[in-house]
Amino acid sequence: MNLFDSLGLRHDGRTLWVLDQTQLPDAEVWLDGSMPDAMVALIKRLAVRGAPLIGVAAAASLATFAQRGASASEYAAACAALRGARPTAVNLMWAMDRMKVAADPMGEARAIFEEDVRLCEGMAKHGAALIQEGEGLLTHCNTGGLATAGIGTALGVIRRAHEQGKRIHVYADETRPLLQGGRLTTWELKKLGIPSTLITDSMAALLLRDGRVQRVLVGSDRVAANGDFANKVGTYGLAVQARYHGVPFHPVAPFSTVDLACPNGAAIPIEERDPAEVRGYGSLRWAPEDMPAWNPSFDVTPVDLVTSLVLDRGVFNAEVLQSGVLMKVCG
Ligand code: MRU
Repeated sequence: MNLFDSLGLRHDGRTLWVLDQTQLPDAEVWLDGSMPDAMVALIKRLAVRGAPLIGVAAAASLATFAQRGASASEYAAACAALRGARPTAVNLMWAMDRMKVAADPMGEARAIFEEDVRLCEGMAKHGAALIQEGEGLLTHCNTGGLATAGIGTALGVIRRAHEQGKRIHVYADETRPLLQGGRLTTWELKKLGIPSTLITDSMAALLLRDGRVQRVLVGSDRVAANGDFANKVGTYGLAVQARYHGVPFHPVAPFSTVDLACPNGAAIPIEERDPAEVRGYGSLRWAPEDMPAWNPSFDVTPVDLVTSLVLDRGVFNAEVLQSGVLMKVCG
């Protein structure tokens, strides 16, 4: 019996398997993520990634650990280690806070998984209604089935619009430095048969200037109470470019990504990763080995650059967000 089954996560009743996202698109390799220490390592090296999926996968790993007889103190220590595996995506903390007090860890992990599937459906319903026939859509990083337990956040919205028969064309940012757009979003778009084109991040402004993009849709790793939000580095630049060219810009996120304890974007912790990720990729290096490099993994987009936030529970424009609506809707 499968306890979990999604594009990037499976549980066959005994073992939790995760699709190694670092090997896509060329190889589909499934790794054992049953033990929390293995899962921490998988999350840190982005074999498992995407804000909602990190939370779901960490919960599933912890539940498997409990199933295999972890003591209460081992369980608590594993929960704390998983919670600290990545600092920006708040879904991880949200899921671990639920698991910490769960009487039935496997039941709770399955509830978190199933809830994420439903949240994706909610975002898709609200977001797809915004998309008009014939639109060019620009997206960043990977926000699809690989990043969630369901159909995705921004990419889920795009998928639903395509399934509704709307004629759309997707431009996927390659997403420097770890290429989640170039490797993962392209893989998903091809599987889904959605008309699409890959671009490097530096080509986005030109596309917007030429009128080939009518809407920008991105995911989020943490939304602050005032609507500022963190997402994959490069998102802020896209928001500035979209505003300059008068193109609507929408973050798409489930309520589990909203952190009401962060009053604004300045309070969101931003992960800094190994500078080597900027100097090269895999075994290829293009910069001198000792070249200093800066590698913030996320940036913060201020709410005034947001046209509207698509949540599972509705669509909220910048003015409404600034009036504190998230406190009411997500509190
Ligand atoms: O570093 P990653 O690949 O985990 O970053 C992922 C993103 O930035 C996504 O846009 C975000 O998690 C939200 S989409 C589900």
